[in-house]
Amino acid sequence: MAYNSPSELLELGDDDSSYYRWVHGRALNSLNPRYMLPVDADAIKRSEFHHRMLQFLFNGKNYVGPVKEVLQPSQQRRVLDLGTGGGFWAIDMADEFPRAEVIGVDLAPIQPRSVPPNCTFELCDLDQWNLPYPDNHFDLIHARSMHTGIHNYPRLLHEIGRLLRPGGLVILIEPDLIPIVDGKPAPQLTDTSSSQGWLAFWDTYRACLVQQGIDVTVPSRLPELLAATNIFQHVVTQDGNIPIGFYPPDQLSLTVGQFAWMDYDLLIPATKPLFLTAGLPESKVKRLIKDAHHDLYYPQLHCSSLLHIVHAFKRQP
Ligand SMILES: C[S@@+](CC[C@H](N)C(=O)[O-])C[C@H]1O[C@@H](n2cnc3c(N)ncnc32)[C@H](O)[C@@H]1O
Repeated sequence: MAYNSPSELLELGDDDSSYYRWVHGRALNSLNPRYMLPVDADAIKRSEFHHRMLQFLFNGKNYVGPVKEVLQPSQQRRVLDLGTGGGFWAIDMADEFPRAEVIGVDLAPIQPRSVPPNCTFELCDLDQWNLPYPDNHFDLIHARSMHTGIHNYPRLLHEIGRLLRPGGLVILIEPDLIPIVDGKPAPQLTDTSSSQGWLAFWDTYRACLVQQGIDVTVPSRLPELLAATNIFQHVVTQDGNIPIGFYPPDQLSLTVGQFAWMDYDLLIPATKPLFLTAGLPESKVKRLIKDAHHDLYYPQLHCSSLLHIVHAFKRQP
Protein backbone atom coordinates (compact mmCIF):
# COMPACT_ATOMS: atom_id res chain seq x y z
CA MET A 1 0.00 0.00 0.00
CA ALA A 2 1.51 3.36 -1.00
CA TYR A 3 -0.19 6.53 0.04
CA ASN A 4 0.93 9.89 1.19
CA SER A 5 0.67 11.32 4.66
CA PRO A 6 -2.55 13.14 5.62
CA SER A 7 -0.56 16.36 5.96
CA GLU A 8 -0.36 16.41 2.18
CA LEU A 9 -4.11 16.81 2.05
CA LEU A 10 -4.59 20.52 2.47
CA GLU A 11 -7.01 21.74 5.10
CA LEU A 12 -9.68 24.17 3.98
CA GLY A 13 -9.49 27.48 5.84
CA ASP A 14 -11.24 30.82 5.64
CA ASP A 15 -8.55 32.42 3.50
CA ASP A 16 -8.41 30.34 0.36
CA SER A 17 -6.32 32.76 -1.69
CA SER A 18 -3.21 30.55 -1.64
CA TYR A 19 -5.12 27.87 -3.56
CA TYR A 20 -5.45 30.09 -6.63
CA ARG A 21 -3.13 31.76 -9.12
CA TRP A 22 -4.15 34.35 -11.66
CA VAL A 23 -3.36 33.52 -15.28
CA HIS A 24 -4.49 35.82 -18.09
CA GLY A 25 -7.29 37.25 -15.97
CA ARG A 26 -8.75 33.98 -14.66
CA ALA A 27 -8.30 32.15 -11.36
CA LEU A 28 -6.54 28.80 -11.82
CA ASN A 29 -5.71 26.22 -9.17
CA SER A 30 -2.26 26.45 -7.62
CA LEU A 31 -1.72 22.72 -7.04
CA ASN A 32 -1.47 21.43 -10.59
CA PRO A 33 0.06 23.67 -13.28
CA ARG A 34 -1.12 21.25 -16.00
CA TYR A 35 -4.84 21.80 -15.34
CA MET A 36 -5.41 25.16 -17.00
CA LEU A 37 -9.18 25.58 -16.90
CA PRO A 38 -10.30 28.20 -14.39
CA VAL A 39 -11.65 27.27 -10.97
CA ASP A 40 -13.88 30.27 -10.43
CA ALA A 41 -17.57 31.23 -10.31
CA ASP A 42 -18.04 30.30 -13.97
CA ALA A 43 -16.44 26.89 -13.34
CA ILE A 44 -18.96 26.32 -10.55
CA LYS A 45 -21.79 27.27 -12.92
CA ARG A 46 -20.40 24.87 -15.56
CA SER A 47 -20.20 22.13 -12.97
CA GLU A 48 -23.85 22.71 -12.03
CA PHE A 49 -25.04 22.76 -15.67
CA HIS A 50 -23.12 19.54 -16.30
CA HIS A 51 -24.61 17.89 -13.25
CA ARG A 52 -28.19 18.94 -14.06
CA MET A 53 -27.73 17.87 -17.68
CA LEU A 54 -26.64 14.40 -16.58
CA GLN A 55 -29.52 14.11 -14.14
CA PHE A 56 -31.90 14.64 -17.04
CA LEU A 57 -29.94 12.20 -19.19
CA PHE A 58 -30.14 9.61 -16.38
CA ASN A 59 -33.91 10.13 -16.00
CA GLY A 60 -33.66 12.06 -12.75
CA LYS A 61 -30.99 9.86 -11.19
CA ASN A 62 -27.44 10.81 -10.19
CA TYR A 63 -25.83 7.72 -11.65
CA VAL A 64 -25.98 4.75 -13.92
CA GLY A 65 -25.17 1.22 -12.88
CA PRO A 66 -25.84 -0.84 -9.75
CA VAL A 67 -25.08 1.95 -7.27
CA LYS A 68 -27.93 1.08 -4.89
CA GLU A 69 -26.69 -2.50 -4.68
CA VAL A 70 -23.11 -1.57 -3.71
CA LEU A 71 -24.34 1.06 -1.23
CA GLN A 72 -26.80 -1.20 0.58
CA PRO A 73 -26.68 0.04 4.17
CA SER A 74 -25.89 -3.22 5.93
CA GLN A 75 -22.68 -1.53 7.06
CA GLN A 76 -20.98 1.87 6.81
CA ARG A 77 -20.60 2.75 3.12
CA ARG A 78 -18.12 5.16 1.57
CA VAL A 79 -18.29 7.10 -1.69
CA LEU A 80 -15.48 9.06 -3.36
CA ASP A 81 -15.97 11.70 -6.06
CA LEU A 82 -12.75 12.54 -7.93
CA GLY A 83 -12.50 16.00 -9.51
CA THR A 84 -15.71 16.96 -7.74
CA GLY A 85 -15.77 20.57 -9.09
CA GLY A 86 -18.67 22.44 -7.46
CA GLY A 87 -19.48 19.28 -5.47
CA PHE A 88 -23.02 18.94 -6.84
CA TRP A 89 -22.83 15.18 -7.41
CA ALA A 90 -21.24 14.53 -4.00
CA ILE A 91 -23.89 16.62 -2.20
CA ASP A 92 -26.79 14.97 -4.03
CA MET A 93 -25.34 11.53 -3.30
CA ALA A 94 -24.92 12.42 0.39
CA ASP A 95 -28.59 13.47 0.48
CA GLU A 96 -29.73 10.34 -1.33
CA PHE A 97 -27.61 7.99 0.82
CA PRO A 98 -27.64 9.63 4.28
CA ARG A 99 -25.93 6.63 5.88
CA ALA A 100 -22.99 6.72 3.47
CA GLU A 101 -19.93 8.91 3.95
CA VAL A 102 -19.31 10.92 0.76
CA ILE A 103 -15.95 12.58 0.05
CA GLY A 104 -15.33 14.91 -2.89
CA VAL A 105 -11.77 15.72 -3.94
CA ASP A 106 -10.61 18.55 -6.15
CA LEU A 107 -7.72 20.88 -6.94
CA ALA A 108 -9.53 23.92 -5.57
CA PRO A 109 -11.96 24.67 -2.71
CA ILE A 110 -14.85 25.72 -4.94
CA GLN A 111 -17.45 23.61 -3.10
CA PRO A 112 -20.10 25.07 -0.78
CA ARG A 113 -19.26 25.32 2.92
CA SER A 114 -22.74 24.30 4.00
CA VAL A 115 -23.20 20.65 3.05
CA PRO A 116 -24.98 17.55 4.38
CA PRO A 117 -23.29 16.17 7.53
CA ASN A 118 -22.17 13.03 5.70
CA CYS A 119 -20.39 15.00 2.94
CA THR A 120 -16.87 16.46 3.10
CA PHE A 121 -14.50 17.97 0.57
CA GLU A 122 -10.74 17.66 0.39
CA LEU A 123 -8.01 19.11 -1.76
CA CYS A 124 -5.64 16.84 -3.59
CA ASP A 125 -3.88 16.77 -6.94
CA LEU A 126 -4.89 13.33 -8.14
CA ASP A 127 -2.27 13.58 -10.87
CA GLN A 128 0.63 13.72 -8.41
CA TRP A 129 -0.49 12.32 -5.08
CA ASN A 130 -2.18 9.23 -3.81
CA LEU A 131 -5.09 9.77 -1.49
CA PRO A 132 -4.36 9.10 2.20
CA TYR A 133 -6.94 6.35 2.56
CA PRO A 134 -6.24 2.69 3.14
CA ASP A 135 -6.61 0.00 0.52
CA ASN A 136 -10.16 -1.30 -0.13
CA HIS A 137 -11.70 1.71 1.68
CA PHE A 138 -14.45 2.85 -0.71
CA ASP A 139 -17.57 1.13 -2.03
CA LEU A 140 -18.13 3.52 -4.94
CA ILE A 141 -15.71 5.81 -6.80
CA HIS A 142 -16.96 8.31 -9.36
CA ALA A 143 -14.73 10.36 -11.69
CA ARG A 144 -16.49 12.65 -14.13
CA SER A 145 -15.16 15.04 -16.75
CA MET A 146 -11.75 15.40 -15.19
CA HIS A 147 -9.32 13.54 -17.49
CA THR A 148 -8.00 16.90 -18.81
CA GLY A 149 -6.23 17.33 -15.44
CA ILE A 150 -4.68 13.85 -15.41
CA HIS A 151 -1.59 13.19 -17.51
CA ASN A 152 -1.28 9.55 -16.46
CA TYR A 153 -4.84 8.21 -16.49
CA PRO A 154 -3.76 4.54 -16.10
CA ARG A 155 -2.02 5.53 -12.85
CA LEU A 156 -5.30 7.09 -11.64
CA LEU A 157 -7.13 3.87 -12.51
CA HIS A 158 -4.63 1.87 -10.44
CA GLU A 159 -5.18 4.25 -7.53
CA ILE A 160 -8.95 3.82 -7.91
CA GLY A 161 -8.34 0.06 -7.91
CA ARG A 162 -6.35 0.33 -4.70
CA LEU A 163 -8.96 2.46 -2.94
CA LEU A 164 -11.99 0.43 -4.01
CA ARG A 165 -13.04 -2.64 -2.02
CA PRO A 166 -13.33 -5.91 -3.92
CA GLY A 167 -16.82 -5.90 -5.45
CA GLY A 168 -16.89 -2.09 -5.26
CA LEU A 169 -18.06 -0.01 -8.22
CA VAL A 170 -16.22 2.58 -10.31
CA ILE A 171 -18.12 4.97 -12.58
CA LEU A 172 -16.14 6.94 -15.18
CA ILE A 173 -17.78 9.60 -17.36
CA GLU A 174 -15.78 11.62 -19.88
CA PRO A 175 -16.98 13.74 -22.82
CA ASP A 176 -15.22 13.03 -26.11
CA LEU A 177 -13.10 15.91 -27.41
CA ILE A 178 -13.98 15.21 -31.06
CA PRO A 179 -17.02 17.30 -31.98
CA ILE A 180 -19.93 15.81 -33.90
CA VAL A 181 -21.77 17.84 -36.53
CA ASP A 182 -25.02 16.62 -38.05
CA GLY A 183 -24.33 13.17 -36.63
CA LYS A 184 -20.81 12.89 -38.08
CA PRO A 185 -17.58 13.03 -36.04
CA ALA A 186 -15.39 15.90 -37.29
CA PRO A 187 -12.84 13.71 -39.15
CA GLN A 188 -15.66 12.31 -41.34
CA LEU A 189 -16.99 15.70 -42.44
CA THR A 190 -16.47 16.53 -46.10
CA ASP A 191 -17.78 20.10 -45.90
CA THR A 192 -16.67 21.96 -42.78
CA SER A 193 -17.59 25.47 -43.94
CA SER A 194 -20.78 25.80 -41.86
CA SER A 195 -19.16 25.07 -38.52
CA GLN A 196 -15.58 26.21 -39.05
CA GLY A 197 -15.38 28.23 -35.82
CA TRP A 198 -16.67 25.33 -33.70
CA LEU A 199 -14.34 22.81 -35.33
CA ALA A 200 -11.27 25.09 -35.14
CA PHE A 201 -11.96 25.63 -31.44
CA TRP A 202 -11.97 21.88 -30.73
CA ASP A 203 -8.86 21.27 -32.86
CA THR A 204 -7.03 23.95 -30.89
CA TYR A 205 -8.32 22.76 -27.52
CA ARG A 206 -7.15 19.21 -28.23
CA ALA A 207 -3.75 20.40 -29.53
CA CYS A 208 -3.18 22.56 -26.43
CA LEU A 209 -4.13 19.71 -24.10
CA VAL A 210 -1.70 17.40 -25.93
CA GLN A 211 0.97 20.06 -25.50
CA GLN A 212 0.20 19.94 -21.75
CA GLY A 213 0.83 16.19 -21.77
CA ILE A 214 -2.84 15.16 -21.64
CA ASP A 215 -3.96 12.04 -23.51
CA VAL A 216 -7.05 13.28 -25.35
CA THR A 217 -7.98 9.74 -26.42
CA VAL A 218 -8.78 8.70 -22.84
CA PRO A 219 -12.57 9.24 -23.10
CA SER A 220 -13.00 6.82 -25.99
CA ARG A 221 -10.61 4.26 -24.46
CA LEU A 222 -12.07 4.00 -20.95
CA PRO A 223 -13.14 0.32 -21.27
CA GLU A 224 -9.77 -0.64 -22.76
CA LEU A 225 -7.85 1.27 -20.07
CA LEU A 226 -9.94 -0.33 -17.32
CA ALA A 227 -9.36 -3.79 -18.79
CA ALA A 228 -5.59 -3.18 -19.06
CA THR A 229 -5.32 -2.74 -15.27
CA ASN A 230 -6.49 -6.32 -14.62
CA ILE A 231 -8.18 -4.94 -11.52
CA PHE A 232 -11.74 -4.54 -12.82
CA GLN A 233 -14.37 -6.82 -14.30
CA HIS A 234 -17.85 -6.63 -15.81
CA VAL A 235 -17.05 -3.41 -17.68
CA VAL A 236 -20.28 -1.87 -19.01
CA THR A 237 -20.31 0.98 -21.53
CA GLN A 238 -23.37 3.23 -22.04
CA ASP A 239 -22.20 6.05 -24.31
CA GLY A 240 -24.62 8.94 -24.72
CA ASN A 241 -25.08 11.35 -27.61
CA ILE A 242 -25.47 14.83 -26.14
CA PRO A 243 -27.20 17.43 -28.30
CA ILE A 244 -25.76 20.93 -27.94
CA GLY A 245 -28.37 23.64 -28.39
CA PHE A 246 -32.06 24.12 -28.80
CA TYR A 247 -32.87 21.90 -31.76
CA PRO A 248 -34.04 18.56 -30.28
CA PRO A 249 -37.78 18.04 -30.84
CA ASP A 250 -38.53 16.11 -27.64
CA GLN A 251 -38.68 17.78 -24.23
CA LEU A 252 -36.03 15.67 -22.52
CA SER A 253 -33.37 16.01 -25.25
CA LEU A 254 -34.16 19.71 -25.53
CA THR A 255 -33.46 20.17 -21.83
CA VAL A 256 -30.21 18.20 -22.13
CA GLY A 257 -29.28 20.32 -25.17
CA GLN A 258 -29.95 23.56 -23.29
CA PHE A 259 -27.76 22.56 -20.36
CA ALA A 260 -25.00 21.39 -22.73
CA TRP A 261 -25.24 24.70 -24.61
CA MET A 262 -24.88 26.69 -21.36
CA ASP A 263 -21.91 24.54 -20.32
CA TYR A 264 -20.10 25.07 -23.65
CA ASP A 265 -20.96 28.77 -23.67
CA LEU A 266 -18.79 29.04 -20.54
CA LEU A 267 -16.16 26.51 -21.61
CA ILE A 268 -15.23 28.44 -24.76
CA PRO A 269 -13.83 31.57 -23.00
CA ALA A 270 -12.48 29.42 -20.14
CA THR A 271 -9.84 28.03 -22.52
CA LYS A 272 -8.16 31.44 -22.90
CA PRO A 273 -5.43 30.84 -20.23
CA LEU A 274 -4.65 27.44 -21.77
CA PHE A 275 -4.49 28.80 -25.32
CA LEU A 276 -2.34 31.82 -24.40
CA THR A 277 0.00 29.74 -22.23
CA ALA A 278 0.42 27.35 -25.17
CA GLY A 279 1.88 30.29 -27.08
CA LEU A 280 -1.01 31.25 -29.35
CA PRO A 281 -1.11 34.97 -30.14
CA GLU A 282 -3.81 36.91 -28.31
CA SER A 283 -5.45 37.98 -31.59
CA LYS A 284 -5.78 34.35 -32.67
CA VAL A 285 -7.22 33.31 -29.30
CA LYS A 286 -9.80 36.12 -29.47
CA ARG A 287 -10.78 35.04 -32.98
CA LEU A 288 -11.06 31.35 -31.97
CA ILE A 289 -13.31 32.22 -29.04
CA LYS A 290 -15.41 34.67 -31.07
CA ASP A 291 -15.90 32.23 -33.96
CA ALA A 292 -16.72 29.29 -31.68
CA HIS A 293 -19.27 31.45 -29.84
CA HIS A 294 -20.72 32.54 -33.18
CA ASP A 295 -21.27 28.93 -34.25
CA LEU A 296 -22.81 28.15 -30.87
CA TYR A 297 -25.18 31.15 -30.98
CA TYR A 298 -26.09 30.96 -34.68
CA PRO A 299 -25.71 27.27 -35.55
CA GLN A 300 -26.29 26.27 -39.15
CA LEU A 301 -25.97 22.57 -38.33
CA HIS A 302 -26.76 20.36 -35.34
CA CYS A 303 -23.77 19.99 -33.04
CA SER A 304 -23.50 17.24 -30.49
CA SER A 305 -20.89 15.45 -28.43
CA LEU A 306 -20.33 11.87 -27.39
CA LEU A 307 -20.31 11.21 -23.67
CA HIS A 308 -18.45 8.06 -22.67
CA ILE A 309 -20.07 6.44 -19.64
CA VAL A 310 -18.50 3.32 -18.20
CA HIS A 311 -18.88 1.39 -14.99
CA ALA A 312 -17.06 -1.68 -13.67
CA PHE A 313 -16.54 -3.70 -10.49
CA LYS A 314 -13.28 -4.33 -8.73
CA ARG A 315 -12.51 -8.02 -9.02
CA GLN A 316 -13.10 -10.21 -6.00
CA PRO A 317 -9.94 -12.06 -4.89
C1 LIG B 1 -14.97 20.01 -15.73
S1 LIG B 1 -14.88 19.95 -13.99
C2 LIG B 1 -16.00 18.62 -13.62
C3 LIG B 1 -16.54 18.72 -12.23
C4 LIG B 1 -17.46 17.57 -11.81
N1 LIG B 1 -16.78 16.29 -11.82
C5 LIG B 1 -18.67 17.49 -12.70
O1 LIG B 1 -18.85 16.50 -13.37
O2 LIG B 1 -19.43 18.47 -12.71
C6 LIG B 1 -13.31 19.17 -13.72
C7 LIG B 1 -12.88 19.24 -12.26
O3 LIG B 1 -11.82 18.30 -12.09
C8 LIG B 1 -10.85 18.89 -11.26
N2 LIG B 1 -9.56 18.26 -11.54
C9 LIG B 1 -8.90 18.27 -12.72
N3 LIG B 1 -7.71 17.68 -12.59
C10 LIG B 1 -7.60 17.28 -11.29
C11 LIG B 1 -6.58 16.66 -10.54
N4 LIG B 1 -5.41 16.34 -11.10
N5 LIG B 1 -6.80 16.42 -9.23
C12 LIG B 1 -7.98 16.79 -8.65
N6 LIG B 1 -8.98 17.40 -9.32
C13 LIG B 1 -8.79 17.65 -10.62
C14 LIG B 1 -10.88 20.36 -11.62
O4 LIG B 1 -10.35 21.20 -10.63
C15 LIG B 1 -12.35 20.61 -11.88
O5 LIG B 1 -13.03 21.08 -10.74
